Amino acid sequence: MRRAIFIPLSIALAACGAAAFAAGIVGTGHDFSSEAWSDGRICLPCHASHNAQTDDDGASMVLWNHVMTDETFTMYSGFAIERTDRDQDEQPGGPSKLCLSCHDGATAVDAFGGGPDSASVFAETSLGTDLRDDHPIGVQYPPDGFVGFKPRANLPPVKLVAWGGKTDRVECTSCHEPHSDDFGMFLRMDNTGSALCLQCHDK
Ligand code: HEC
Ligand code: HEC
Ligand code: HEC
Ligand code: HEC
Repeated sequence: MRRAIFIPLSIALAACGAAAFAAGIVGTGHDFSSEAWSDGRICLPCHASHNAQTDDDGASMVLWNHVMTDETFTMYSGFAIERTDRDQDEQPGGPSKLCLSCHDGATAVDAFGGGPDSASVFAETSLGTDLRDDHPIGVQYPPDGFVGFKPRANLPPVKLVAWGGKTDRVECTSCHEPHSDDFGMFLRMDNTGSALCLQCHDK
């Protein structure tokens, strides 16, 4: 009898999991539609359909609507891995700067086209401007076959990012997907057993 009850329950739970997977951004920590300043809109604090920002060279930039951080960051340095060919940016760029526009501990969350730009800096989970204690970003993934790293074909669902003529960068969005919190912490995949880390690192 107990077994007969257990099986349908597990199926029901699996169905719940599937429903949660389709949830997207609604109701996550990135859904600010219930805040007075968001005009009830989910996408607006980050994207605008018109008159959005472009980068310094005029290239389109996911229709970005939020004020861009103008902080200067200290990048990860003192690598333990020896790589004479390391290609690391001097400052975060592209997709990482989008995230740091709210997670730099300095720029207000509600500072976006039309937003009030109050002093409401989101400090609790901000990385601050010193990124030396955070996973390297703005660094190119080593060539396939480099000891300690998995080949590119192994990476999905984590990803490398191309922007501004640069290729194969590790950026915030390599590990994070800002529109889905299905795996917690807006991660691209479940990190149980450090599975996310092992997509790239051959350890
Ligand atoms: C908290 C900020 C934030 C909110 C809110 C947000 N986005 Fe995004 N969105 C981003 C960031 C950051 C990127 C760049 C991600 C990347 O390059 O992988 C992006 C990229 C995109 C892209 C292009 C790349 C992709 O992932 O497909 C689309 C389309 C998009 N967003 C649509 C939306 C829509 C529609 C909404 C509202 C339902 C929304 N976003 C809400 C931050 C946000
Ligand atoms: C418009 C401002 C904004 C942008 C842009 C933004 N975030 Fe967030 N993010 C927030 C806020 C505010 C929270 C906290 C929500 C809460 O706890 O209620 C949050 C929560 C998070 C969390 C969960 C933190 C926790 O402790 O639960 C992660 C991880 C995260 N963001 C990563 C990112 C990444 C990566 C990007 C870029 C791809 C990004 N965010 C872009 C405002 C933003
Ligand atoms: C190599 C993968 C990776 C990269 C790159 C990465 N993160 Fe994360 N991030 C994670 C993981 C994994 C966690 C969850 C940590 C935990 O559960 O202890 C996390 C947690 C967070 C949190 C939650 C608060 C905290 O400090 O733990 C925020 C906010 C965040 N990341 C933002 C960012 C931003 C912004 C960037 C780019 C500047 C970034 N992340 C780059 C993997 C990454
Ligand atoms: C998208 C691929 C990717 C993912 C996912 C990833 N890493 Fe990395 N990691 C890299 C790259 C690329 C470097 C920099 C390599 C270089 O230039 O030496 C790096 C660097 C590091 C370093 C610094 C090594 C040094 O030489 O100082 C550590 C430690 C590290 N990662 C741990 C982790 C952990 C822990 C996770 C999971 C939370 C993780 N990584 C997830 C690609 C990744």
